[in-house]
Amino acid sequence: MTASPPAPASSRIVAITSGKGGVGKTFVAANLAAALARAGRRVLVLDADLGLANLDVVLNLFPKITLHDVFTGKSSLADAILPAPGGFSVLLAGSGMVEYSHMTPEVRDQLLRVVAEVEPQFDHVLLDTGAGISDVVLYTVSLAGEVLVVVTPEPTSLTDAYATIKVLATTQGRRHMRLLVNQTRKLGEGRAVRQQLQQVVDRYVNPGLDGPVRLDLLGEIPSDPAVRECVQRRQLMLEVLPGVPAARAMVAAAARLAASAPQ
Ligand SMILES: Nc1ncnc2c1ncn2[C@@H]1O[C@H](COP(=O)(O)OP(=O)(O)O)[C@@H](O)[C@H]1O
Ligand SMILES: [Mg+2]
Repeated sequence: MTASPPAPASSRIVAITSGKGGVGKTFVAANLAAALARAGRRVLVLDADLGLANLDVVLNLFPKITLHDVFTGKSSLADAILPAPGGFSVLLAGSGMVEYSHMTPEVRDQLLRVVAEVEPQFDHVLLDTGAGISDVVLYTVSLAGEVLVVVTPEPTSLTDAYATIKVLATTQGRRHMRLLVNQTRKLGEGRAVRQQLQQVVDRYVNPGLDGPVRLDLLGEIPSDPAVRECVQRRQLMLEVLPGVPAARAMVAAAARLAASAPQ
């Protein structure tokens, strides 16, 4: 089978990416999904970290069926869509699967088919990507209408977020991306991070493009010991500690996302 062109990317499909690993993409995907579900939205999170998945770990799920089974024809897509705590649905992936460390025409076709099939069934489809800017990550992002870059205020995370934004602007023609600044230490740090990244993009990326790249702030999530505790206990923060500052910030970010993708 040859790779088909990507379907028209719908704004209901949001790719969550970052460049750097360990900044909170999976934590954000799970809790943003739970916040959207609480607001009455039908939400699916697809673990697009196909070879090193861990959405199942964060949600304390032990899947018998994963995307690998769907891709290889062992299972139907419908059977692989599982309910998660938090009232949303998930498509989980496997771990330690080296065959997904690079993109093949087969995986391209299968991922495209799966995303195209789930898109009409949900109000929001969140694609939780792996770290880096591999062809698997970039192809996954190309299927989304919206890009959410998770970034922390650390210089290494900022550098990787900038590199990711630059690559997406130049190779995919992205002119609008959203930022979720995670692990902030003081209020307003999210705005400062957005401004800093926008300035670098204005200076080094925009001059070579046909139109400027605009970065929007979806929200800022404070660094919160409750997050680590929840991950440790494999519990969803939005469910067990909905009142902590990080959970409230997630609900606010979800409301902004929902407002820009009406039902
Ligand atoms: N807002 C936060 N406050 C405190 N710790 C956090 C926060 N966000 C993420 N973390 C920590 O970072 C770890 C990595 O997050 P994860 O979502 O797995 O990152 P990624 O998917 O980007 O690799 C989490 O297990 C958690 O311990
Ligand atoms: Mg992750």
